[in-house]
Amino acid sequence: MKLKMSFLAEPSDANYRGNVHGGKVMKWIDEVGYALSVQYSGKYCVTKFVDDIEFLEPVHIGDLVILKAKIIKVGNTSLRIHVNVSSESLVEKIKKQNCACDIVFVAVDDAGNKSQI
Ligand SMILES: CC(C)(COP(=O)(O)OP(=O)(O)OC[C@H]1O[C@@H](n2cnc3c(N)ncnc32)[C@H](O)[C@@H]1OP(=O)(O)O)[C@@H](O)C(=O)NCCC(=O)NCCS
Repeated sequence: MKLKMSFLAEPSDANYRGNVHGGKVMKWIDEVGYALSVQYSGKYCVTKFVDDIEFLEPVHIGDLVILKAKIIKVGNTSLRIHVNVSSESLVEKIKKQNCACDIVFVAVDDAGNKSQI
């Protein structure tokens, strides 16, 4: 199962040099992973673990940002999701690979305890 999110990087996402903050990119990764894990499991899910993140290229204001999330492992209560972040400058048409990482979500019940998927 996969999920794709795309949107424009906004000025409020970026620092004074016009590059998007690393923490913002991490938030997007968390959001797409969250949406896919809830969509798949049908349950509320929480972030349990984020694998190494390396920022390869900066995302600039106005770039089209594309996040692609894919489930790579379904456990008893957890889902391991691979997320790829790429961007495209729409005028120059330059495409960049910005970063990729694995993120693990755990399904939880109303009490916040882990729950079977
Ligand atoms: C999620 C939570 C309910 C899990 O409870 P827990 O008793 O610690 O769960 P476990 O250690 O048994 O792990 C649950 C699942 O996560 C997996 N997991 C745990 N640590 C992991 C790690 N470092 N890497 C990969 N998977 C991991 C386990 O393998 C297990 O998967 P499975 O059931 O599919 O086999 C609890 O840790 C919690 O509430 N954490 C805070 C979540 C949160 O607030 N996230 C927001 C970010 S701050």
